[in-house]
Amino acid sequence: ETVSAEGLYVLPGAIDSHVHFRDPGYPHKETWKTGSAAAACGGVTTVFDMPNTNPPTGTLEALAMKLKAAESSYVDFGIHALFDDSTVATLIDLLDGGATSFKAFVGNTFGNLPAPSDGALLEGFETLAPLGIRTTVHAENSSIMARRQKHLRDAGRTDPLAHLAARPAVAEIEAIGRIITLAEWTGARVHIAHHSAADSLYLLREAKRRGVDVTAETCPQYLLLNTVNMLDLGGLLRVNPPVREPRHNEPLWRALLDGVIDMIATDHAPHAPEEKTRDDIWECDCGFPGVETQMPLMLTEINGGRAAITDYVRWSAEAPARAWGLQGIKGVIAPGAHADIVLVDMGRSENLSQYRLQSIGKISPWHDRQVKGCPLHTMVRGRFVVRDGELLEHTAGWGQSIKPVQRMPPARVAHPDTTTRAITEPGAAEREAR
Ligand code: NCD
Ligand code: ZN
Ligand code: ZN
Repeated sequence: ETVSAEGLYVLPGAIDSHVHFRDPGYPHKETWKTGSAAAACGGVTTVFDMPNTNPPTGTLEALAMKLKAAESSYVDFGIHALFDDSTVATLIDLLDGGATSFKAFVGNTFGNLPAPSDGALLEGFETLAPLGIRTTVHAENSSIMARRQKHLRDAGRTDPLAHLAARPAVAEIEAIGRIITLAEWTGARVHIAHHSAADSLYLLREAKRRGVDVTAETCPQYLLLNTVNMLDLGGLLRVNPPVREPRHNEPLWRALLDGVIDMIATDHAPHAPEEKTRDDIWECDCGFPGVETQMPLMLTEINGGRAAITDYVRWSAEAPARAWGLQGIKGVIAPGAHADIVLVDMGRSENLSQYRLQSIGKISPWHDRQVKGCPLHTMVRGRFVVRDGELLEHTAGWGQSIKPVQRMPPARVAHPDTTTRAITEPGAAEREAR
């Protein structure tokens, strides 16, 4: 199993903290085998899978089904379990059952899972803060979006920009502000998924300055695409949150460079071709594959001088490793770390083709895009899963859960007297003050 690394760069394998591998439930969109094959070919050695599968990953049975499906994975994985009103009392059971972290859909999206109430969010954050477990939040305000969408549909709007009009940036700003408030109060660790708007960056910047442990990701589509592309691509580019006006692109790049946004994730969200190409924008499923194209797209920008390759490694590997308790084990090339390695050819140019993607949901807004800088060989824990760009099919199943190596230090519990202690020990704070 030897390869020549002559002329190549050695990088830690990317950690993609936001993928939808659809398994169990939607095998016509993706499976663990095809999704993880896409990851491996894209230089991604660890993924975190989202719970909007069928059944949703909110019970021990559903979690066991997901872990079973993940046994066919080429790459290592974490499992974000569902955090909503129906699961908030069982978060610790789900952690014991193998979940590594949680996802709260505070904003309607594929799967139509109900948003957790603010009360449940507060309670769950109180439970998770002392454990240090981070909750990823899809932060958009559903009530704002539902009213907007109804008005747009009533007015007969079916054009591509109607999707953006239905999900204005204020829906994202409002939800991020609310999540930061609850995280700051409880001391819980939170993570903002697919950050898309320039206008909410100040909330992240100021919260971090105050010491709130909030991390954030953005995705290639918010950095490199905007409403101009939406006019061309239509429903194919329909995604939640929407790609926004051109004015949002540059501030997101600056936020990455400043550390206000910590990392790149892809929100790999494949759907079947017929689900992506309907004439009526409201009938096109939201999302598209991304785990396989992130690295060439971002390396192209590095080649273009937008940032240093060390910045890219921080966004793709180091920051997610730190956020999910894998520091020193994954996301770095260091003594004691797993040999999760990708060898990239920074000089190699390619024309991305959706037909060559491993993902079942082939339809991609990146089809026909010219890139320079490509992953060539991918190694997971010392074993090649991709060599010379070719998937090594006998390595399906080599991927493992990262749960046994995950170490989350306890977080600071901000207001212990107002948490569950106020229920079980009324007057405790007053007695202590006397
Ligand atoms: C995601 C999906 O299809 O599961 N779709 C999307 O538009 N991003 C759900 C999500 O991440 O919101
Ligand atoms: Zn989402
Ligand atoms: Zn998603």
